[in-house]
Amino acid sequence: MIVEHRTESEVRERLILALDTDDPDHALEMVNRFRPRVGLFKVGLQLFTKAGPTLVTSIREQGPGVFLDLKFHDIPNTVAGAVIEAARLGVKILNVHASGGVEMMKAASESLIRTCLRENLDRPRLIAVTVLTSLAQEALEHEIGVPRRIESHVKHLASLSMRAGLDGVVASPREISIIKDQCGEKFLVVTPGIRPPWSPPDDQKRTMTPKQALMEGADYLVIGRAVTAQKDPDAALDRLIEESVF
Ligand code: C5P
Repeated sequence: MIVEHRTESEVRERLILALDTDDPDHALEMVNRFRPRVGLFKVGLQLFTKAGPTLVTSIREQGPGVFLDLKFHDIPNTVAGAVIEAARLGVKILNVHASGGVEMMKAASESLIRTCLRENLDRPRLIAVTVLTSLAQEALEHEIGVPRRIESHVKHLASLSMRAGLDGVVASPREISIIKDQCGEKFLVVTPGIRPPWSPPDDQKRTMTPKQALMEGADYLVIGRAVTAQKDPDAALDRLIEESVF
């Protein structure tokens, strides 16, 4: 799938800024500062472990949507219970690990639908993490013991997620087109591992520029250190948006 063009506002609404900090005040300050320029804010493991549901509610009350990136991976009953609580927090997107299996993903998706209908809640999009973008081929094969190319493992996990009724996956930008071909254009692809040409890869192994990822069909780009670790995060975000329009 090749996308022909993206306007500035289409780029902005597809950006998810990762609030990777241990300081809830700093997180809220970032929300306040970047709110008009991005689509969603991502609360991950560190910030959630520190500041919990109260912070998620405070971000939501400021207006923007939240992607709760807690990557649930447990037995079906436990994950089903956890996604219900996330829905009650009013997040827009949440995720589980696809390697938890179809039964686990189905339990999550079905309990989410049931609870949202019953309690009249907006149903968050439920997506699955395929292969972490920090993992390279060598680690997948020799540490985790999956004797497959990363791309074919991602494709496999994306199919499982679709079969389980999920709305999409988290994957590296290099796998966007494989997933869209396999699962269809409507199946969401959220990609971390985004790096403009002027930002270092850090621990990410399978990176792409934001513009390239949008051209490949990414629905959302997760942006962290490429903005937040720059000397001037405001200027970095403006530059990133400007360079991503096509
Ligand atoms: O700083 P950077 O842009 O690399 O941040 C990427 C963010 O996306 C981090 O919060 C990381 O936890 C998250 N993420 C990831 N790879 C995944 C899923 C989430 O890097 N597969």
